[in-house]
Amino acid sequence: MDDHIHIHATPPDSADCPPTGGYCRTHELNIQLLAALYAVSRALSRSLDYNDTLQEVMRVLHDEAGLTRGLISVVDPETGKLSVRSIYTPEGPISDDTQYGPGEGIIGQILEKPRTIKLTRVADESRFLNRQPVYHPELPFIAVPIKVGGSLQGVLAVQPEEPDDGLIDERAQFVEMVANLIGQNLRLSMDVEQEKSSLVEERDLLRRTVRHQFGFDSMVGRSAVMRRVFDQARLVAKWNTTVLIRGETGTGKELIANAIHYNSPRARNALVKLNCAALPENLLESELFGHERGAFTGAVEARKGRFEQANGGTLFLDEIGEVSAAFQAKLLRVLQEGEFERVGGSRTVKVDVRIIAATHRDLEAAVDMGDFREDLFYRLNVMPLFLPPLRERIEDIPEIARHLLGKIGNDQKRKLALTDMAQRRLANHEWPGNVRELENCLERAAVLSEDGRIDVELIRFPGSRERPPARPSRPASLPEPALPSPGATEAGDADLSERERVIAALEQAGWVQAKAARILGMTPRQIAYRIQTLNIEVKQF
Ligand SMILES: Nc1ncnc2c1ncn2[C@@H]1O[C@H](COP(=O)(O)OP(=O)(O)O)[C@@H](O)[C@H]1O
Ligand SMILES: [Mg+2]
Repeated sequence: MDDHIHIHATPPDSADCPPTGGYCRTHELNIQLLAALYAVSRALSRSLDYNDTLQEVMRVLHDEAGLTRGLISVVDPETGKLSVRSIYTPEGPISDDTQYGPGEGIIGQILEKPRTIKLTRVADESRFLNRQPVYHPELPFIAVPIKVGGSLQGVLAVQPEEPDDGLIDERAQFVEMVANLIGQNLRLSMDVEQEKSSLVEERDLLRRTVRHQFGFDSMVGRSAVMRRVFDQARLVAKWNTTVLIRGETGTGKELIANAIHYNSPRARNALVKLNCAALPENLLESELFGHERGAFTGAVEARKGRFEQANGGTLFLDEIGEVSAAFQAKLLRVLQEGEFERVGGSRTVKVDVRIIAATHRDLEAAVDMGDFREDLFYRLNVMPLFLPPLRERIEDIPEIARHLLGKIGNDQKRKLALTDMAQRRLANHEWPGNVRELENCLERAAVLSEDGRIDVELIRFPGSRERPPARPSRPASLPEPALPSPGATEAGDADLSERERVIAALEQAGWVQAKAARILGMTPRQIAYRIQTLNIEVKQF
């Protein structure tokens, strides 16, 4: 808004306007009221907190419009009564919490019938309920309804500082305009309030969803090791204890960190994550601790770091094993003192943050090698949680696979199912990429599946370091597979023929037929039959 609007009074022709004439006084008053109206509109536009602005409007009316006494009351949505929000006297604002019911006094009359009431002298009016000692009996009185979209929201009542001068109509018109502006402002702040509360509702709903999504329900696995990890995580979630999550990539470290945060008393506040391996040292520092304006080239604004963003909540420091010695020292200080300075700043910032760190590194070895500070290690290692690699809990694979297929199926809006052969193939893989690899493998398979049925030939391990041992160890004397597998379309591990599958299983089982049969889900008789029909030369040890 333009701060410099000047309202110039054009002096009216002196013949038309004798110094004591009505026209000239009206004119002067209108000029004064116009300036006051402008000040009111500015006061209203300054803030959306209407308790503040109402007070400010009353001040403007008092200082600039010669309406030295006045009050604003607003309809209380619960009682339907008008309750006083702001009162001004010639001496300044006073506080009051009077309420007016319908028909109670002049103001109560407006509640019954929203219209402007003008009195040239209060004392002449018998209806005037003298509840408000602020009113002067000798002065005129103007009360106007404040409406929002046709419904009464309040009443603005004022008294000019002088006894009636014949200009009450002009003043009443001005007060109506002010009430109009207040009404518009009220509508705006009501809209904002409503928007705010619907945003809060949405936020809470999202939080509940997130909580469910990232709760312990989202993690499956019934192996003894995993059950123990879940129990420990559940217990430690309640406290502010620092947690160090260990495990190979893809074992669910981040998932556990989520579950701990969303089941902790900090769940209502932020979970902020930072992958320490993802950023170069200098960026990492400003990312974590924030920076002041001008701290370095490009730092045009001051910025909060992740530590400050996580205040009251949890900070997840992923790949903590990857940070340099200098950075470890800085981290140690925050962990010890809970305080730090922004980059380029001298003010000490204090935060209340719970730390969950994760690493795939062998930190004890790193400490022995002098790569990781021992004191930092002990600070972090208050509650260690170890996530075993998937290959050490193969009993979890079917359940995790089912869970992941459910998730993928949800996205694809169809039902997905693994055949027994496919399941066995999953159980026999090494999973160097752990659950993440399993997830990717299933997603690929699901994409390739026409009807939602995932058979063994769709389970592929592209770029896998570990290959089914069939091909390299096949006795060189054997001819190429005689029977092409039915679904095979292209060459590769995924299209192992039946013959190769049996050989692979035998290799894996150390050529113990009964064991190979179990891997393939066959009976010993079935495998013996296949060894014969597929012309497999049985190795003897
Ligand atoms: N026990 C589990 N149950 C279900 N999904 C899991 C489990 N463990 C890991 N995942 C999924 O595997 C993927 C990798 O997990 P993540 O937590 O990112 O592993 P990390 O942080 O150890 O590399 C994620 O998509 C995660 O949802
Ligand atoms: Mg991770």
